[in-house]
Amino acid sequence: MSTPRSEATQRIGGETGSAALPNRTTRIIGWGHEVPAAVVTNKDLESVVDTTDEWIVSRTGIRERRIAGTGETTASLGAIAAARALAVAGLDADAIDLIVVATLTPDHLMPSTAILVKEAIGSTRAAAFDLAAACSGFPYAYAVAHGFLTAGLGQRALVIGAETLSRSTDWSDRSTCVLFGDGAGAIVLEAIDLPADQVLAKRPGTLSFELSADPAGAYYLWIPGGRATGAAPDETIKMDGAKTYAYATRTMAAVALAAIERAGLTAAAVDLVIPHQANLRIIESVSKSIGYPMEKIFVNLDHYGNTSAASIPIAISEAVAAGRLKRGDVFCTVAFGGGYTSGAFVTRWDADPANGARAASVNAADITIRRPEGAVAAPVPAALRALVDGRRSARETA
Ligand code: UT7
Repeated sequence: MSTPRSEATQRIGGETGSAALPNRTTRIIGWGHEVPAAVVTNKDLESVVDTTDEWIVSRTGIRERRIAGTGETTASLGAIAAARALAVAGLDADAIDLIVVATLTPDHLMPSTAILVKEAIGSTRAAAFDLAAACSGFPYAYAVAHGFLTAGLGQRALVIGAETLSRSTDWSDRSTCVLFGDGAGAIVLEAIDLPADQVLAKRPGTLSFELSADPAGAYYLWIPGGRATGAAPDETIKMDGAKTYAYATRTMAAVALAAIERAGLTAAAVDLVIPHQANLRIIESVSKSIGYPMEKIFVNLDHYGNTSAASIPIAISEAVAAGRLKRGDVFCTVAFGGGYTSGAFVTRWDADPANGARAASVNAADITIRRPEGAVAAPVPAALRALVDGRRSARETA
């Protein structure tokens, strides 16, 4: 492996606190998530690899994760999350101009997962594509959709983070397999025009971004599965855990603080931080670095593990349902991941949390992904089959 070229990162910002604020921004008007029904606990994994519940909890904070069942895929989870976000927004699928799916576990290399989601939710108009920025995929996709909408290319976008990491995990590698889980989250982002004289401190909706990419980490967290190198495809995650941990703790606080500063705020003015859910120790270190109390940081990794690009939109959806985001609250999301990449955005929440109840109108069974004739339903990894299929049949007979 060649030596990493540089530790330098390239940063791209959003609006600043300067006088020249654009009159158009975006706000979140719909949200939703979907996770597979099968729960696999740390105790269960003791029968899969040489590990213990005690090791996993003390090193990561993870207690259980959801694993996609037979036939469940990134597209199917993403489409259900998207349908819920649309229902919460009170919109028909054709009110959407753009669908972006952030994922590192697409159903296929082609077509995009976003195209399959588009068909499943009944959209006939939207442009659709996938975005690859690993666990930072959601802030990246949010920034791309914000740029699309504020440039006047459309009025509303569905931004989805969806993953089935269980299918890209080496279930004989205890140093990675205990960390990941499957799931999807989605938001509807809408363009809004603001009065020309509205100061940043009073603005609703999206306030700022900070994105960074550091090629030094390219082969410390990666999936060699592409075809262009001519190497035999290997579809499972490889990770240098210690280097990735060091990158995360070094970068997350800096990126979050930069986004907060661009929004013209201080950390104390932020009501809630929603970090990428990879490891509780990493989140605690961010809390310490930015002098921000853990009570104001949303954590759900104990239930889901690391769901990569899905972790932040699932957390947003759960934070609203838990009453942690009210109209007018400012929240900051921050992620890190393969690339290495990292990203943050700051938003003033501008939707009625009670609209979340509308997600119940979506019947997940009505949302299906079209497969080619004769395709076999996506299988559960062999190492987990007994665990996942056992859970499903127990639920079905309950
Ligand atoms: O979205 C980005 C995804 N990646 C990450 O977030 C990963 C960031 N890194 C981390 O979270 C941590 O580095 C880990 C949780 C992966 C590992 O924690 P650690 O405290 O850095 O442990 P370690 O890698 O230093 O391993 C300590 C020991 C080793 O044994 P020896 O060599 O000391 O005998 C490992 O072999 O723990 C062993 N070990 C395990 N033991 C039981 C590694 N994995 C396991 C396991 N169960 N699952």
